[in-house]
Amino acid sequence: MSRSVRGVPRDIALSLRDKYKLDAFIETGTLIGYSAAWASAHFDCVFTIEVFDDYFKMAVNNLCRLRNVTCIKNLSVYALEQLRLDWDGYYFPLFWLDAHWGEEAQYGRPPQESQVLAEIDNINRWKSPHAILVDDAHKLSTPRWPTRESVMEALSDNGRREIHKAYDVLIATPIKGEQHAAESSDVSATADIP
Ligand SMILES: C[S@@+](CC[C@H](N)C(=O)[O-])C[C@H]1O[C@@H](n2cnc3c(N)ncnc32)[C@H](O)[C@@H]1O
Repeated sequence: MSRSVRGVPRDIALSLRDKYKLDAFIETGTLIGYSAAWASAHFDCVFTIEVFDDYFKMAVNNLCRLRNVTCIKNLSVYALEQLRLDWDGYYFPLFWLDAHWGEEAQYGRPPQESQVLAEIDNINRWKSPHAILVDDAHKLSTPRWPTRESVMEALSDNGRREIHKAYDVLIATPIKGEQHAAESSDVSATADIP
């Protein structure tokens, strides 16, 4: 979760939803379903992915009454691949990449390597319009995390997206018009939504 807001930054998620007509919320890292529950009231459907059985069970218990939420128990990269095969071309997703670990948040497990680059590489194969939020930007370039530059490059996807930063979250959105990729790869320190 972000250091400055609990769970997905709601103002940004709603702004992106409205601007890009996004109708699905796809989350990596469910924990107990805090962001997924919020998203269920604001998106047509929610897919949330959790690898650990104990959190998955708690999330299912918390979310089971929400008919537009699908809980998936798997590693994020495998689940994202299946979601793309099933739903690309049908949904316009907002991705909330939050399957994240840290020294202060190990969820009772040994520290893990971040999967965020593999997640973004998979999302880069989506053809439907979409936007991506990556939580915990401050952890990039620290042990067990990819470098900030590699994540920025993956999010840019050869100039398809521009990248901003707000709170502790990287925001990757479709490039505007003919704006050149080189002009849009700076990370802004403000909460503007491109
Ligand atoms: C920061 S918490 C998620 C918080 C949640 N997204 C929210 O906004 O309320 C991170 C979660 O990611 C899960 N996780 C870590 N690595 C994962 C992976 N590779 N695939 C799926 N879940 C993962 C952890 O078990 C933990 O429950």
